[in-house]
Amino acid sequence: MKFQKTLILVSLFIAIAVAVAACGSPDETSTPVPASSVAAPTASQATPTMGQGQQEKHGNEQHHGQGMGGPPEGMRERHSAPIPADYQGLADPVPADEESLARGEKIYAQQCATCHGDGGMGDGPAGQSLDPAPAPIAHTSQMLGDSYLFWRISEGGAQFNTAMIPYKSILSEQEIWDVINYIRALGSGQVQPRKNMGGEAMNPEAEAQMHADMLAAGVEQGVITQDEADLFADVHDKLDAYKTTHMDELRSFMGNPEEMQKSMLDALVKTGEITQEQADAFTDIHDRLVNAGIMQ
Ligand code: HEC
Repeated sequence: MKFQKTLILVSLFIAIAVAVAACGSPDETSTPVPASSVAAPTASQATPTMGQGQQEKHGNEQHHGQGMGGPPEGMRERHSAPIPADYQGLADPVPADEESLARGEKIYAQQCATCHGDGGMGDGPAGQSLDPAPAPIAHTSQMLGDSYLFWRISEGGAQFNTAMIPYKSILSEQEIWDVINYIRALGSGQVQPRKNMGGEAMNPEAEAQMHADMLAAGVEQGVITQDEADLFADVHDKLDAYKTTHMDELRSFMGNPEEMQKSMLDALVKTGEITQEQADAFTDIHDRLVNAGIMQ
């Protein structure tokens, strides 16, 4: 009985496949793709050439669906999204020791480098034509909390219509923490990137230069004044200094990245390093630069 049913199903499937092929379908997809390869997390599946569905999704929905914001709005949307209840208040239970970093390095090379690049700067070969592009996670992970990172790596980008893959059924929890430890170590310069897929290493001078260029562009385009650019750079430096001295505290921060930024500004106001007006001005300048598409 069961066998017969299967046989009927299989012949039906073949008949359909043949009919589709006979209709002169313009591509080579008439060979049935096994379901397993659709869900497979391998790098090749993620490449734009093979991930046709994915590319279409990004080409269309992303551009039309996002309206005036466009890609620069995107990262901010993700950084200000509420962290789902299941992921709130997590703390990395895996010490970032040599063993963890070695495990993380391996996972990163196999699963992430193809899109995010060897150095974690978002410039891997399979990420080139993705829109939005893979995040420069070596850099962003320095100021993202455990909860946020664990959530985003577990659930991927479906909620935001991005190509970031959900890893919760691919990696164990420990493997996700290992890879989080690794990307943070990449960004802090504690480990050197493998030479594997391609992509730049994190470069603090280049980052600083890029930042200065963005502010200069803001002034040039009349989005901010020179005074505002100076104020922004000054507060930004103080935020950076705060981050380096409060790293552990920030990693276990409960809220999303936007809330983290706000709480750091509040802390600087409390210690008298900046005034409330400067904090407000910083946020306002940041918003204007993001809205003008100059900053992410
Ligand atoms: C198919 C390409 C692709 C692969 C493979 C991939 N990512 Fe991503 N990832 C993206 C894209 C695109 C984004 C930006 C959009 C988003 O945040 O959803 C992203 C975003 C992220 C973010 C959010 C960063 C931020 O600043 O908000 C993290 C964290 C991340 N990826 C980690 C990883 C890790 C770790 C791996 C491997 C285990 C990995 N990704 C594999 C494409 C990929």
